[in-house]
Amino acid sequence: MQKKLDKIANDTNFFLKNFIKKQKKSDLIVAMKYGLFSGGKKIRSKILVDVGSFFKIDYKSLIMIGSAVECIHAYSLIHDDLPCMDNDKLRRGKPSTHIKFGESTAVLAGNSLLTLAFEILSYSGLKLNEKTKINLIDKISKYSGHLGIAGGQYLDLYYEKKKISMNKIIEMEIKKTGKLFSFCCTAPLIIKKKNRLEIKKFENIGENIGLLFQVADDIIDYQGNSFIAGKKTGKDAKKGKATLISLLGYKNTIKYAKYLILKINKQIKKYGSKSQNLSETLDYILYRSK
Ligand code: IPE
Ligand code: IPE
Ligand code: MG
Ligand code: MG
Ligand code: MG
Repeated sequence: MQKKLDKIANDTNFFLKNFIKKQKKSDLIVAMKYGLFSGGKKIRSKILVDVGSFFKIDYKSLIMIGSAVECIHAYSLIHDDLPCMDNDKLRRGKPSTHIKFGESTAVLAGNSLLTLAFEILSYSGLKLNEKTKINLIDKISKYSGHLGIAGGQYLDLYYEKKKISMNKIIEMEIKKTGKLFSFCCTAPLIIKKKNRLEIKKFENIGENIGLLFQVADDIIDYQGNSFIAGKKTGKDAKKGKATLISLLGYKNTIKYAKYLILKINKQIKKYGSKSQNLSETLDYILYRSK
């Protein structure tokens, strides 16, 4: 699993480096590259490749689409660490982007990474027809905005130090993290022009995977090692973040995460041996230490 993930990370970074190299230089690009290349598992690209294999999508296109997703992910982390949000100084074992370059540069580098994702999806080197590209851009825009990442991040901050129900916590985690995973799970079906109902199914699978991912991240914060995780741990409790751990306790949260894995495995079972890779990724997500 780690080998497969490393290959996808290398291929994604290779594409992104070349894509950026072809552009004119700017001062902001240094901070953008710092947020994009200073580590990062590239797990979202892995999910895209796993689901892409169900539908025989060519690997090169998946890496390009995954690169766009990783740009949005990197932007969301740069902003997430800002003093007005989680106020975290360490990311991937290094100073957060705003610590290294200053707040205004971090905000602008984040914005530019968000728009870079749309540039990649509309790039002529991505060999898909224009209608498909528009559909992909439409989907990723919706999942990044007020009904997705941004909306979820708003709720995450708004819920701090409040008593929040399980359903509301799940909704918040699905928005801030799950929706980008939903994009990874639906992009292959959009490319193959599958019907609405099938796309909806994979949207739901993506939400469950993203929720599992965020729950595992909350578990790492609760019990993980800061040195291994590359970010400060124990901070969610201090900030009064509404997480399933704070509501249900550690043991029940682990139980819930295992239940999510069972549920997702059931949903993908019909893809037979092809679902094996995705299944492996699910276990990696829950049992990882960073
Ligand atoms: C961390 O994401 C933020 C969450 C959405 C939980 P990752 O754990 O995927 O971050 P990197 O890219 O591997 O550092
Ligand atoms: C971040 O969640 C989710 C995003 C969409 C950026 P966290 O705030 O828990 O992520 P970490 O723990 O700082 O990586
Ligand atoms: Mg946060
Ligand atoms: Mg954070
Ligand atoms: Mg966290």
